[in-house]
Amino acid sequence: MGSMRRINILVLIALMLSLTCASVKATVSYDDKAFIINGKRRILISGSIHYPRSTPEMWPDLIQKAKDGGLDVIQTYVFWNGHEPSPGKYNFEGRFDLVKFIKLAQQAGLYVHLRIGPFVCAEWNFGGFPVWLKYVPGIEFRTDNQPFKVAMQGFVEKIVNMMKSEKLFEPQGGPIIMSQIENEYGPVEWEIGAPGKAYSAWVAKMAVGLDTGVPWIMCKQETAPDPIIDTCNGFYCEGFRPNKPYKPKMWTEVWTGWYTQFGGPIPHRPAEDLAFSVARFVQNNGSFFNYYMYHGGTNFGRTASGLFIATSYDYDAPLDEYGLPHETKWAHLRDLHKAIKQSEAALASSYPIVTWPGKNQEIKSGDCSAFLSNFDPTYSSKLTFQNVQYNLPPWSISILPDCKTEVYNTARISSKGSKAKMIGVDGGLSWQSYNEETPSADDSDTLTMQGLWEQINVTRDNSDYLWYLTQVNIGSNEGFLKSGKWPLLTVMSAGHSLHVFINGQLSGTVYGSLDNTKLTYNGNVNLRAGVNKISLLSVAVGLPNVGLHFERWNTGVLGPITLKGVNEGTRDLTKQTWSYKVGLKGESLKLDTITGSSSIEWVKGSLLAQKQPLTWYKTTFNAPEGNDPLALDMLSMGKGEIWINGESIGRHWPGYIAKGSCGGCNYAGTFTEKKCQTDCGQPSQRWYHIPRSWVKPSGNLLVVFEEWGGDPTKISLARRTA
Ligand SMILES: *[C@@H]1O[C@H](CO)[C@@H](O)[C@H](O)[C@H]1NC(C)=O
Ligand SMILES: *[C@@H]1O[C@H](CO)[C@@H](O)[C@H](O)[C@H]1NC(C)=O
Repeated sequence: MGSMRRINILVLIALMLSLTCASVKATVSYDDKAFIINGKRRILISGSIHYPRSTPEMWPDLIQKAKDGGLDVIQTYVFWNGHEPSPGKYNFEGRFDLVKFIKLAQQAGLYVHLRIGPFVCAEWNFGGFPVWLKYVPGIEFRTDNQPFKVAMQGFVEKIVNMMKSEKLFEPQGGPIIMSQIENEYGPVEWEIGAPGKAYSAWVAKMAVGLDTGVPWIMCKQETAPDPIIDTCNGFYCEGFRPNKPYKPKMWTEVWTGWYTQFGGPIPHRPAEDLAFSVARFVQNNGSFFNYYMYHGGTNFGRTASGLFIATSYDYDAPLDEYGLPHETKWAHLRDLHKAIKQSEAALASSYPIVTWPGKNQEIKSGDCSAFLSNFDPTYSSKLTFQNVQYNLPPWSISILPDCKTEVYNTARISSKGSKAKMIGVDGGLSWQSYNEETPSADDSDTLTMQGLWEQINVTRDNSDYLWYLTQVNIGSNEGFLKSGKWPLLTVMSAGHSLHVFINGQLSGTVYGSLDNTKLTYNGNVNLRAGVNKISLLSVAVGLPNVGLHFERWNTGVLGPITLKGVNEGTRDLTKQTWSYKVGLKGESLKLDTITGSSSIEWVKGSLLAQKQPLTWYKTTFNAPEGNDPLALDMLSMGKGEIWINGESIGRHWPGYIAKGSCGGCNYAGTFTEKKCQTDCGQPSQRWYHIPRSWVKPSGNLLVVFEEWGGDPTKISLARRTA
């Protein structure tokens, strides 16, 4: 077996070494079997950590834990809307300090895979596109459209030039060994045809022309033009073949779990199946795989999207939302990586030799490491290889790096890491409240227009909240005033959530879901003779992050709005005069800050508002001892947003109870995102991450805006510990 081949490989390596000696510059290249970095043939192990989903103070530890977990590469997207919130005004500070993040990976001795996109999807607001991009005249996203191409090229060049000037590409001595342009464009190209093909060709040429010195990839795009490498994303990718025989087989997203949506249960992926899928990929010529996510983290502020995506982006990743090892997944994968590394030389230089001792059993060996497989989801199996018998659990792979010693089986978890948990912090919080007022159409600071306007067009996403305000005149001869049969108000909205106030009183709340963002309010409303004030608070839960021409999707109250059961039958309110007010009063007063919150009168004690809609709460607290990450238990609250010392830790929505099926979970057999869910009938998200670095030793300002009404006295702090 393979001795000729081994000689060839030795010759090849010698050749490479002489090449690299001749030139001072390092090189990144590849063949169909491996990446070749500085002359060394590599099977690369990578993991996604998105820098804005944690804090700079967390980065060194996350990166170190990734390294300890056996990773060679950190992969991240680049988040355009975080970096260019308004045209030409850039932000590379704090959580958006991309250069710092990459340099930290380099200092830890890791490589970086930079997915510039700039479309990133990622359950991130607007898929990473800035909102202003939608309002560039004539623009159409991700197609052969000049205004789009100009803006996209501008940003990609900005990032590439920044990386070059910081000497971060590998040939410059930096850690970036590859980049990505676009993202999962294949399905879009397939759908839109010719303009999609033209755009792909342009994108590829534009990227390659930037001359980074490292390979570009396009994921989920079979048509990726040379020299760009097409790659696979999914729960399993062993069957994937790149579009040319000389390209390496890459898996850019090994899904370690799945995202949580408000209203959905919490998805999990068993470590045994995750390890099994990776081992299968590696034994089938795989040369690069990347865990999506290795650390999912938190959708701070209003960065969550995909609509109805939860604030936690834990993803059931090997490092949990708080940055602690998610055991025993983290350790089980670390052990897998050790076994792969021991087999690396053989894997990177020889094609597997496949034998099938039985229907569901497979042996793959190179010179010389062996992967023994049992694909049977129910039965364990005895397998004989080179005269030795091995016992394999169902749905598992054993790795023998030297063809003799079984060092790892994907279904046998040997490490006993301890599970992280929440520990309540003693001492209650003392709250004060402030009622957000309900504006009306005759307020002076509103915008008056004819008919109903699309929400984002008015808010430009500066707030989740938009008030739609109008008045309805009821004559004293209306029949319902005598019969007491209140008329039926119907409000149709494109999403995502809606509160209906009649003369300042809440009449009802409706909300959509990820599967159906549209909603309809139907309610019999108590109107009186004379002028009645109708105030609709329409609430967005992020902008769409994916879908064909998602820039055209609408949000907000677009009608029709009707009043049924008046003397004339049905009155249509859709086309009448409406007034608009962007955001909440508390937002414009900046109640989340020390100065803003001291500018108004709060109430406390027996006057504290409880179970009242549209209420602001504030308190101060001292930091719990130690360095553990912190969380807020929001079980007693409904929906809104939370700030610590002026930093938004995200939207809370524990009032949204998880619907779905939460059966048992067998690791064996094909995994799908709905297979292993928990917390049905519970809030989709109860705990909200407070990064330790956002907390001072004492006097921390905690502000909560509550839409639905809740009991703040039951909010409590917890420490996350292993
Ligand atoms: C590995 O790649 C070689 C060369 O392309 C191919 O002949 C072989 O079938 C591949 N093996 C597997 C298991 O994918
Ligand atoms: C968006 O706003 C512009 C004015 O700024 C207006 O002309 C247009 O009709 C609005 N579109 C929608 C869908 O509301």
